[in-house]
Amino acid sequence: MPRFPLCKIRDGIVALLAALLLAVPGAVVAQVAARSVTASSPDGTIVLTVSTDNDARAKWSLSRKGKLLIAPSSLGFILTDGLNMVRGFAIDSSEKASGDDTWEQPWGERRFVRDHYDEVLVRFRQKAEDGGRLMNLRFRLFDNGVGFRYELPEQRAFKTMRIADELTEFSIASPGTAWWIPGGEWNRYEQLYQKTPIDGVSIAHTPITMRLDDGTHLAFHEAALVDYSAMWFKRISGQTFRSTLSPSSRGPKVVRDLPFATPWRTIRIADSAAGIVENDLELNLNEPNKLGDVGWVKPAKFIGIWWGMIRGDWTWAEGLRHGATTARARQYIDFAALHGFRGVLVEGWNKGWNHEWLGHGNEFRFSEPTPDFDIKAVTDYAKAKGVHLIGHHETGGNIANYEAQLDDAMKYAASMGIEAVKTGYVADAGGIIAPGDTAGTTRMEYHDGQRQVQHHLKVVQTAAKYHVSIDAHEPVKDTGLRRTYPNWMAREGARGMEYNAWGQFANGPDHEPTLVYTRMLAGPMDFTPGILSLEGHDHVPLASTLAKQLGLYLAIYSPIQMAADFVESLAAHPRELDFISKVPTDWAESHLIAGEVGDFAIFARKDRNSADWYVGGVNNATARDLDLKMDFLDAGKTYTATIYKDGAGATYLTDARHNIAYETRTVRKGDAIKLWLAPGGGAAIRLDAGGSQPRKAD
Ligand code: NOJ
Ligand code: CA
Repeated sequence: MPRFPLCKIRDGIVALLAALLLAVPGAVVAQVAARSVTASSPDGTIVLTVSTDNDARAKWSLSRKGKLLIAPSSLGFILTDGLNMVRGFAIDSSEKASGDDTWEQPWGERRFVRDHYDEVLVRFRQKAEDGGRLMNLRFRLFDNGVGFRYELPEQRAFKTMRIADELTEFSIASPGTAWWIPGGEWNRYEQLYQKTPIDGVSIAHTPITMRLDDGTHLAFHEAALVDYSAMWFKRISGQTFRSTLSPSSRGPKVVRDLPFATPWRTIRIADSAAGIVENDLELNLNEPNKLGDVGWVKPAKFIGIWWGMIRGDWTWAEGLRHGATTARARQYIDFAALHGFRGVLVEGWNKGWNHEWLGHGNEFRFSEPTPDFDIKAVTDYAKAKGVHLIGHHETGGNIANYEAQLDDAMKYAASMGIEAVKTGYVADAGGIIAPGDTAGTTRMEYHDGQRQVQHHLKVVQTAAKYHVSIDAHEPVKDTGLRRTYPNWMAREGARGMEYNAWGQFANGPDHEPTLVYTRMLAGPMDFTPGILSLEGHDHVPLASTLAKQLGLYLAIYSPIQMAADFVESLAAHPRELDFISKVPTDWAESHLIAGEVGDFAIFARKDRNSADWYVGGVNNATARDLDLKMDFLDAGKTYTATIYKDGAGATYLTDARHNIAYETRTVRKGDAIKLWLAPGGGAAIRLDAGGSQPRKAD
């Protein structure tokens, strides 16, 4: 009887196991030491090569559709207490894996998110004489982007990593244009965007957006910035950039015990502007929701006692012009109840506001209202009308003072029925006052350094304990942590509407169509649209038409969205108010249906709670005609379109900014709507599917 040789059986089993491993998604395939490792995205278009060069430096490079995108670029760290982690590396081993999952957002621009990738973990080992450290790199390759992070394992050579700087390089292989704001500047992220050749960038914050001359769109950013300093994107020569971390007063920019992982360094990659906008790269690289049932996180629209202070008519501080009085709060609650706004923001409600914004953060009290603001009476009144106050914690950047009161402050807010708190850190860059190492001392930090990154998470986690959501102003940039902590609903982190109140500082007509493709790639922004009067302080005109104020509700996403004007101005525009009170803040789907970086942006978004669609957006200073195909609508349905568009002759440059035109018509899938966008203009369309009552505002 013929017998199977044993080795044949063994080989057969190995082959079978290998075949099984390859067939199972997520399977891990180990490779042995090699001089280079390659991996590609699921559709094969993006190819990564990880290698070492002649100096034994760790390198990575990318190509897309066969063309070099990122030329070989270095990886590593400088430490404050040991040899640099730069030279002497060899690839020890690597492992491949893949994933394909679809997860649901509790709220957002779209309900379902697909997370589809191939990944490779590359383990580097440094020669003993060069430092003898272990450094792992995990690269995750998607068809529309790449993320990678350092994973520093436990090791004999050191226990704590004191990082002087991270040396991740990005050598962009072909020329193009960049849209960016400077990193480290005094006004944090509140800068006007610059448009320059890529080799004209200095140090930029991320996201930084680029369009290569061949039309490829790139956006560099980071994901899951936790217990680490933010990455600034510093051009070091030609088109080569290197990470530089936000500084710390301690010396090392980051101090972490091993093992730990850095934030992901991310690149969105697409052929079109829409491809970098409709892109969930950073969300996918964040960890899933850690808060469990977050039914208490409420997408909502709100009005507020706010624009009056920003314009200078009222004051935050107590006195004759104090904005936050009991009577005014009642007036705003009445208006909110009448028009279906869930929230009313009240700023200047608490003790500590008796000086200028800057430099007195130690005086703020977060559980003590001013005598002319009867918070109990106001919140009881709100409750009876189904309205919720939005709390306000301006810290002046003094987190030593805020952290000492934090738990009490959130408990107090929750006890007043407050569902969301707007925080604020008004201080120049480097002006965060943090607790020092010994009691009673303080030290200065950056708004995006490791200490402030820790602070933000502490605030979000403490707020979650009391079922309170956070909208942070003067924040650290968004890196997708809303996935893990869905109560971190929004933040500022760019120049918002407030600048338009301040005449010479106004944002200008190009700002919002630039934000869409830059700041907004990071996550929701509390921009505070809806200044229907189109006037700031001293009647200074906004660089916006009336229709653009409505278009902002489609262009700038936030789950909590303000109608920022005085209630009298909102009431003076009943048709626009009707649109604002109906437009949702939580979507089933969102698509950029027309737009180019910095020029214009038109979105189509489908309500998460009805079959209605909304279309609209914003334009820059150049008028344009659009022919918008309604291909996204559901087949077989007839929609009633209520169109708000720039009126004849409208322009942000003259009083014709107020010219708006209205049109109502029926629309079906495949129809087109022609729109003329004025200079500084915009448009907004409600596509009512019928059947369901359009909802009042949340
Ligand atoms: C700046 C914020 O952006 C603004 O919204 C707020 O009203 C003031 N700080 C005061 O906290
Ligand atoms: Ca601000």
